[in-house]
This record gives sequence, C-alpha cells and structure tokens, in this order.
Amino acid sequence: MSIQNIDFYFFSGTGNTLIVTKAMAKTFKENGIKTNLFKIEDSKPYDVNLTHVIGLGFPVAELSTYDFIWKFINDLPNSNGTKIFMVDTLAGFSGGIVGSLREILKKKGYNPIGAKEIIMPPNIFYIQDETTNKNKVQKGIKKAKEYAEDIIQGKSIWGRVPIFSDLAYYISITGLKITHSNLNQKLLYLTADREKCNRCGLCVDICPLNNIQIDNEKYPINMKNCAYCMRCTSFCPKNAIPCPLNYKGKTYRAVMAKDLIE
Ligand SMILES: Cc1cc2nc3c(=O)[nH]c(=O)nc-3n(C[C@H](O)[C@H](O)[C@H](O)COP(=O)(O)O)c2cc1C
Repeated sequence: MSIQNIDFYFFSGTGNTLIVTKAMAKTFKENGIKTNLFKIEDSKPYDVNLTHVIGLGFPVAELSTYDFIWKFINDLPNSNGTKIFMVDTLAGFSGGIVGSLREILKKKGYNPIGAKEIIMPPNIFYIQDETTNKNKVQKGIKKAKEYAEDIIQGKSIWGRVPIFSDLAYYISITGLKITHSNLNQKLLYLTADREKCNRCGLCVDICPLNNIQIDNEKYPINMKNCAYCMRCTSFCPKNAIPCPLNYKGKTYRAVMAKDLIE
C-alpha cells in the first residue's frame, strides 16, 4: 500500500541533518505524501502517531548517536507493524548504529523499511574548506532525494551485519557513557570566553538540552550535561565558545541558527 502520511522526527546539531531531512521531506511532498517535521528535542515519544509512517533523522556521534536521541527511540511506544525508516548524517564511519537500531525497533513491533547513512561535512575535529563542504552538502542532498524516492517506491532496505552490529553498538555505548561521565564533562568543558562573549544569549536558546544557563552577570554557564552536539560552539556569533577538540579552533555550520530554532 502506498505511503500517505510521514511524521519525520529529527535532530540536527549544526545543520547537516536538517538539510538532509528537508531534502527528503521535499521529495515526499512532491510525491503527494503528507509530511510533518518534528524536532526530537521538542517531541514526546509517546505522542507519535502509530498510523503514520515514522522517520528518524539524526547525526552520528561517537560511532553512535547522542544519548537523548537514544532516549527518544527507547521510549517510543510499542507498535503493531508501524513502518519506520532512519537516516543519519556522518563524516565517515558510524559503526553499529544501523543494525542495533533495527533490532530495538523490531522488538518494539515496528516494521523497519529503510536505513541510509549520508556523508556530510565533519562538524568536529578537522573542519574542511568551504568548497569541499559545499560539494559534500550537494552530494548529500542528492543522496537524500534518491533515498526518499526509494522509500516511496518500496525499494529501500534496512540491513544488519550480525555480530559486527552488536559489537560496534556496545563499543559506541561505552564511548557515550565516558562522554557523560563527570570527568569528561570537566575535561572537555565548553565554556564561554568572557573577553569575547557579548552576552547575547543565543547559546542558551540553541542548546537542545537546556544545559546552558545565565549567571547574575548574564554570562552563559555550562551545567555539565553537555552532549557535544557543537551547536553553541558553531553558532556563537562571537566565536566565544571554543571546542578544545577542533583543529585551529575552526567551526562548522550548514544553516543559520534561526533555521534550527524556528
Ligand atoms: C561529538 C561528535 C562526535 C562525532 N562522531 C562521529 C563519528 O563517530 N563518525 C562520523 O562519521 N562522524 C562523527 N561526527 C561528525 C557528524 O556526525 C557529522 O558532521 C554530522 O553530519 C553532523 O550533523 P549535524 O550538523 O546535523 O549535527 C561527530 C560529530 C560530533 C560533534
């Protein structure tokens, strides 16, 4: 039976996943499918409409994805065959997420109809030059549209590599646990440089975890529940929140801040 409605839940730290999600949504709509976009950070998993096809879009982080995305997925209600697809964006290698996610959703009773990983520019470590980034984004958009066509035509697949998928999943979950440890939150502390910060408050508004608060002097403070999605670092108009992991302090963003918080 052809697809009538798609509810597409997504998160994007620096815009790559937003671009891919929008490209797919455009293709769905051009083919007459009613498509709603929902931000994962503003959504409640138990509100999902199980009579619609569900889409999940998110960035890869530490060979996996952010903890709050896992929480959303793990808290999805059980279903009786709701069709579901996923797309992630990544710089190069994701490891175990595709296979392990499929197993989790199957156990909940969903019908996994498609998974795709789309290479986009890296937003951490080594930020590439503008031309390379633009080319990658264009290729990514093309792949996203093709993938959406495949979903519409029933040609998409969601595979799993036995053993490898499980192994990679457990390695990545260990990585996420380390990221959220107190030690890591202290060592890799993203904090505003008070000399540069103009106290505009954009970082507070843009943080998906409400992890940034304002002190008495209106400077932002990191409440040590950071997922390292790179939003505050990448969108700070004064480049006042350096990420110690970024080579030469360069930052990446694929969209405007307002596109992520509108
Ligand atoms: C904390 C962190 C960890 C990342 N880990 C990986 C990784 O393991 N593999 C990979 O290919 N890309 C990794 N990336 C790169 C992002 O997945 C990639 O740039 C993605 O497209 C960003 O999407 P967004 O702009 O929607 O946030 C990582 C990025 C961040 C910020």
